[in-house]
Amino acid sequence: MKSKVLAALDIGTKSLKMAVGKIGDEGDLEILGVAEEPSSGVRKGVVVKPEETARHIATLVKRAEQMTPSRIEEVIVSVGGSRLFCVPSHGLVAVSRADASISKEDVDRVLQAAQTFSLSQNQEILELYPLQYVVDGEQDIREPIGMKAVRLEADVIAVCLFSPDLKNLTEAVLEAGLEISGVVASPLAVATAVLNPQEKEMGVAVVELGAGTTSLAVFEEGDLRHIAVLPVGAENITHDIAIGLRVEHDLAERIKTEFGTCLGPKGKRMEKIDLGNGETFTFSAKFVTHIIEERVKEILQLLQKELKNLDKQGQLPGGVILCGGGAKLPKIAEFAKKELRLPVKVGKPRELHTVEQDPAFLGVFGLLLLQTKEQELRRETRKPSRAAGFLKRLFKAFIP
Ligand SMILES: Nc1ncnc2c1ncn2[C@@H]1O[C@H](COP(=O)(O)OP(=O)(O)OP(=O)(O)O)[C@@H](O)[C@H]1O
Ligand SMILES: [Mg+2]
Repeated sequence: MKSKVLAALDIGTKSLKMAVGKIGDEGDLEILGVAEEPSSGVRKGVVVKPEETARHIATLVKRAEQMTPSRIEEVIVSVGGSRLFCVPSHGLVAVSRADASISKEDVDRVLQAAQTFSLSQNQEILELYPLQYVVDGEQDIREPIGMKAVRLEADVIAVCLFSPDLKNLTEAVLEAGLEISGVVASPLAVATAVLNPQEKEMGVAVVELGAGTTSLAVFEEGDLRHIAVLPVGAENITHDIAIGLRVEHDLAERIKTEFGTCLGPKGKRMEKIDLGNGETFTFSAKFVTHIIEERVKEILQLLQKELKNLDKQGQLPGGVILCGGGAKLPKIAEFAKKELRLPVKVGKPRELHTVEQDPAFLGVFGLLLLQTKEQELRRETRKPSRAAGFLKRLFKAFIP
C-alpha cells in the first residue's frame, strides 16, 4: 500500500511551521522534513486575519511539498491562544441495561452528562478527556464497559476555547486549499511530542515558550490535570530589549537571538553587533542579560501562579519540560530551575528519529504522532471515521 503523506501545521505568532512525514514499513512515523514561514495575521497565537494567514500557509505548503513525494492535501493543525482553557467536570447516569452491565451507550451518556456545564455562547468544547470512571462508588476505573452496576460516574477534563478563534483558524487553513484531519489544543500537541509515560505518572509540566504566548500542560498520575495559555512570550523579551537599548525591533531581535542568555556575564563586557553598512552597534551584555532575566522571571512567576492554583508548586517530581522557540535561549533551563525550584530541562522529541532538534518544532512533531496513531487505529478498526471527531474521542489514548 502506498503510504499517504502526513502533514502537520502549527500556526504561531511569529512563524508558521509544518512537519511532513509518512508511515514506514514498520508502521512507525518517518519524518520527511520540516518547513517554516514567517507568520501573518496572527496575534498572540490567534488567527485574526484569516485571508492573510491563508496566503502564508499556502507558501509554506509549497515549500514543504518539495520534501514529499506527493501533494499535501490534508493537515492536522493545532490551536492555541490565551482563550484556550480547561474545565474539570463530572457526569452521573443510571446504567440502562436490564442485566445492569455497563454498555458503550452508558459510557457515551455519562460523557455527555459531563459536558453539561455552562459555557458562554461564544465558547465551545474542543476535546473531552475522561480521567476516571466511578462504578457504584468504586473509584479509578478506566474501562467500565461490561462491569455490572446501577450507577456510572465520570470525571473529565474538557478543553474549551473561544469559538471565533477556532473559526478563524479553520477558515485560514481551508482558504489555503487544505482539508483538516483534526484540530488539537497546542499545549497537548507539544506534550505528545516530549512526554514519556513515567513523567506523566510522576507529575510533570510541559511549558511552551512561543513568541506571543506561553502555554502550560500539567500531567499527574498519568492524566492531564490542567492546561493554560498566557498571553506573553519571547516576543516580549524583544520589545523589552528594543525599549531598553532604544533600538528598532529587528535589531533587538538579533541581539536577543545572537547574544541573549539567562545567567549571563556579570562583568562590564561590551558586545558589538554588525549592522551591515559598515557600522556597528555596541551594547552592554550585562544589561541585555538583565532585561532577559527580568522578563523570563515574570513569565515563570505567572506559570508558578498557575501551578500554585493546582497545589503543585514545588511538587512535580517530573519537573518542567521547556519547549518552543524561547527554549533556545541559552541557560534558560538552569535559570528556570533556580526560579521554580523544580527540575527543568529542554524538551526533545520522544520516540522519533529526526535530525531536527529545534524545540520550536515539537508541536508539529506531536501532531504527526497523533495523526499516525489515529491512522493506526482507523486501520485496525477499519471504521470509516470523521477524522476530527475520531481524534477528539481517542486522543487521550494517544498521549504517552
Ligand atoms: N536562540 C534564541 N534565543 C532566544 N530566543 C529565541 C531564539 N530563537 C528563537 N527565539 C524566540 O522564540 C520565539 C519564536 O518561538 P516559536 O516559533 O515557538 O513561536 P510561535 O510559535 O511563532 O509563537 P506562539 O506559539 O506564541 O504563537 C521568538 O520570540 C524568537 O525570538
Ligand atoms: Mg507556537
